[in-house]
Amino acid sequence: MSVEALSGKVFLLVTGASRGIGRQIAITFGSLLQEGSHILLLARNLNALQEVARSIPSKVTVDAVSIDLSKSTKVTLEETISCSLNKATPDSFDRVVLIHNVGTFGDASKVANELTDLNIWREYYDLNVFIPIVLNAVVMNMFNRLTNIKKVVINLTSFYATEAGYGCAFYSTSQAAREMFFKVFTLENPDVDILSYSAGVVETDMLYEVSENLVDLNSKKQYKELLATKTALTPEQTVNRLVEILRKHKYKSADHVDYYDKL
Ligand SMILES: NC(=O)c1ccc[n+]([C@@H]2O[C@H](COP(=O)([O-])OP(=O)(O)OC[C@H]3O[C@@H](n4cnc5c(N)ncnc54)[C@H](OP(=O)(O)O)[C@@H]3O)[C@@H](O)[C@H]2O)c1
Repeated sequence: MSVEALSGKVFLLVTGASRGIGRQIAITFGSLLQEGSHILLLARNLNALQEVARSIPSKVTVDAVSIDLSKSTKVTLEETISCSLNKATPDSFDRVVLIHNVGTFGDASKVANELTDLNIWREYYDLNVFIPIVLNAVVMNMFNRLTNIKKVVINLTSFYATEAGYGCAFYSTSQAAREMFFKVFTLENPDVDILSYSAGVVETDMLYEVSENLVDLNSKKQYKELLATKTALTPEQTVNRLVEILRKHKYKSADHVDYYDKL
């Protein structure tokens, strides 16, 4: 099953690759990549990243780097990527694939009028909005000098980007901001293939956290039921669907495509 967006020698960067959806993207995409491709996995938990790296076929080189993205800067991101590229041969890549997977739900136990600590808002937006934007620019600028390289960007998103969630001021606003950023970005960079993939409701640590903390008791009950009945999507299901969406490629750049959308 060939997927154009993952074809050729690829430099693949996945943020939040130590668990959940990001881990599964690394494993599934890693199994589809051609020999000579190189993967850079980022998250804080190095042991978990190294375990993910061991699940990827050895024809692909994998670099697992522990980094707290909430505290990273343009310079640390550039250094991390340059250092990883030195272990590969950057000029030989046909394609760069950047997966903006890192994301946190934020404190869903409070309603908007209780969210008055500016530092907490800033920290949340640093990790969930500003770092993906800066990382995106860093990667694009590093690869722009290679004129023939194709660029693919996948932004993990959610139905909360388009539907307001009660108690979800952090998450809904950050998801909407990320998607709008990529709509602006695509106007300025029509050569880059961008997808905002809305992953469905997936059984990951994030879902367990939300099902415990959400101030909205109806949604909280629904999420608990999904977990108790094992009817939330698995990371494998949602990533297989992502691969199918990429393979069929019916979307326009920066479109929001949901797991449940008819292709
Ligand atoms: N689960 C869902 O139902 C669902 C639905 C739609 C969209 N999404 C989106 O999909 C993405 C992944 O969600 P998930 O459910 O897989 O989340 P998750 O299980 O909570 O995993 C989050 C990942 O982000 C990393 N991370 C968190 N804080 C970090 C930091 N400061 N620096 C570096 N890495 C950090 C974590 O690794 P470390 O702890 O090792 O750093 C982990 O690998 C998110 O963008 C989320 O919004 C999820």
